[in-house]
Amino acid sequence: MTNASIETAQTAETVDADVVAIPVFEQDQPGDLAGADAASGGEISRAFSSREFTGKPYEIFLTKLVSGGWRARRLALVGAGARDTADLDRMRRVAAAFGIAARKRRLGRVAFVVRGAQSVASGAQAATEGLTLAEFYGGRYKTGEPDGQPAISLTIVAPGAAAAEVEQSIRRGRVLAECCNLSRALCNEPSNMLTPRVFAERAAAIGKEVGLGVEILDETRIAELGMGLLLGVARGSAEPPRLIVLRHEPKGPPASPVLGLVGKGITFDTGGISIKPADGMDRMKDDMAGGAAVICAMRAMAILNAPIRVIGIVPATENMPGGRATKPGDVLVGASGKTVEVTNTDAEGRLILGDGLWYAQQLGATHLVDVATLTGACVVALGKYASGLFGKPDAWVQHVGRIATASGDRAWPMPLHDDYAEQLKSEIADLVNSGGRPAGAITAAMFLKEFSGGLPWAHLDIAGTAWADDAKPWQAKGATGVAVRTLAELAFSTLP
Ligand code: BES
Ligand code: MN
Ligand code: ZN
Repeated sequence: MTNASIETAQTAETVDADVVAIPVFEQDQPGDLAGADAASGGEISRAFSSREFTGKPYEIFLTKLVSGGWRARRLALVGAGARDTADLDRMRRVAAAFGIAARKRRLGRVAFVVRGAQSVASGAQAATEGLTLAEFYGGRYKTGEPDGQPAISLTIVAPGAAAAEVEQSIRRGRVLAECCNLSRALCNEPSNMLTPRVFAERAAAIGKEVGLGVEILDETRIAELGMGLLLGVARGSAEPPRLIVLRHEPKGPPASPVLGLVGKGITFDTGGISIKPADGMDRMKDDMAGGAAVICAMRAMAILNAPIRVIGIVPATENMPGGRATKPGDVLVGASGKTVEVTNTDAEGRLILGDGLWYAQQLGATHLVDVATLTGACVVALGKYASGLFGKPDAWVQHVGRIATASGDRAWPMPLHDDYAEQLKSEIADLVNSGGRPAGAITAAMFLKEFSGGLPWAHLDIAGTAWADDAKPWQAKGATGVAVRTLAELAFSTLP
């Protein structure tokens, strides 16, 4: 996937690279930058006083290194914003912005100096994540030249840190961000290339490579298990559904907890008979972003030896309006026995997740997290910069929220009052699948709660966060890899 080597160095001067980057805060003075000003022949001082460079986030100032014994060819100052608001999330983005800028300039051997982090080790991890995320290239179906040059080598300069500790952090950051990039690649795949069967094959290959337990259930097995909700969504498609099951079984772990992760794996969402408008429908190829996050997070857990048992479940299908498709008003019977009147076939994610959550319990999960591009309403509520966070009890939801924040996947809590259940009442079945427009993200979560079987359960609605509509200095347009780091880190946390 990524070929660039990665290493550490103690000082910026001694690094041999095409460019060495120093993050610079708005409060910094040229003299704060460890001899860089002299090495640039005073160019840094000139850029500061002319305000060519001010330290605003993601500003880049490139200059030649002319003297003072620095080995790198060039120096980049990268704006890191106000020092008092700079956290690891900012540092990750600053490193990513630099990585993207270096690639555009065809500078392949890049170094980045860790500065301003509370601990050098965590700063080194964030920097590694940023530089690795910057390596992502989404143009695999372009037959011409890729845009920019892929990185050849990355060096993390971590002054005054214990080498062993920094090596650990760098390895961790590298694995986590590579798994994000793998998730982004899966999400960017068009639906003709990534059908449910291909998605399952890719998941199996990823799982086997890192030693996860892998089981792919085909439509016959899915029917034997009685998963009428998943089958009901799959009916309209010529492509058969799959249920992807991955297991992380570390040697000699305690019997509990068992983390159960369930990801929405709709490889294309037309809406079904309740068909979506044409505008923007192409984006619905990423409706498997939750499933990709589960698969890729489990890859990270396996490589990094997460200490607890984890089960990952991804129900995978297309949502198509074929001649045999489920129609509005149809009633489906899920594997848990609950019946659902399908009032809107476009509310398909919650259906397949209902069966997925049930299966996670069958396999012995004690704590549940589901991740899904579930509702347009969540995009309206929270926009593109925070995922919706739902669930019960509060202790579990807050735990997931804290891990998300620490991982740089922002998630914001949303309510689940019993009153909202009114909107899911059916005249003829246990539930309807669509609660209408008011509180659309909440009623979707309320539907899932019905399938959580009394276990601690958290739900991340990533409809707004899974996809970047525009390129940012720190992020390419397209799939973002959201929730991969959160899910992976959960497996290293003490579950409440
Ligand atoms: N996959 C969509 C949600 C979505 C919307 C994801 C925009 C990403 C961007 C989901 O299956 C869906 O269609 N939800 C409906 C639910 C409604 C019919 C109750 C929606 O949000 O409109
Ligand atoms: Mn839909
Ligand atoms: Zn969908």
